[in-house]
Amino acid sequence: ALKACLFDLDGVIVDTAIYHFKAWRRLANELGFDFTEHQNEQLKGVSRMESLELILQWGGVTLSDEEKQQWAARKNEWYLAYVNQMTPQEVLPGVRDFLDSLRKAGIGIALGSASKNARLILERIDMLDAFDAIIDGTHTTKSKPDPEVFLLGAQALHQNPADCVVFEDAVAGIEAAHRGGMKAVGVGSPEVLTEADVVITAFTETSLTKLSDELLGWQ
Ligand code: BG6
Ligand code: MG
Repeated sequence: ALKACLFDLDGVIVDTAIYHFKAWRRLANELGFDFTEHQNEQLKGVSRMESLELILQWGGVTLSDEEKQQWAARKNEWYLAYVNQMTPQEVLPGVRDFLDSLRKAGIGIALGSASKNARLILERIDMLDAFDAIIDGTHTTKSKPDPEVFLLGAQALHQNPADCVVFEDAVAGIEAAHRGGMKAVGVGSPEVLTEADVVITAFTETSLTKLSDELLGWQ
């Protein structure tokens, strides 16, 4: 039965995915190359340092560990410049209503994000109180597609993975949910999120009842 919902942050609760893309692209451009939105899909859900490694590979650029730390710090500064402009209006359509309906139904709500900036973002959009548990990049040692972040979330909510549903916009996040023994709802494009149990393009097009009916259908 559906007991808990675990939410990715970037690209699910708010569209920070575009800010990450812009900041990484600036880094690539300053290093003399570029990458596409299609390549960017591979960065979603992936930690800061692992994202940097991928991008450097794409550009064929080799850096020392110290230089990598410096570029990652620079990227984060550019990213935070966007984050600091964020307002509660940026919460994606339907998200607040959906979380309210979960709360009313007594379903556990956790955040499962790879970001070390998650708390700052939740503060900016006034959603720190919306979650019963917040697991982010400061708690994890392994990145998605490893299920660690979601297993920690289920544990914090005292629920079995089989009773949990993960909401994710990243291919790596869908895989993490499944590896953790959880259902996965893709948020985004069905062409990209082919492994998801079900894909929604926005929370406005779903409801708890609709989802649990579909979930029951999956059992
Ligand atoms: C994930 C994003 O949520 O967090 C990735 O999808 C990002 O794009 C990762 O790299 C780490 O985020 P941060 O804020 O710690 O650099
Ligand atoms: Mg995401």
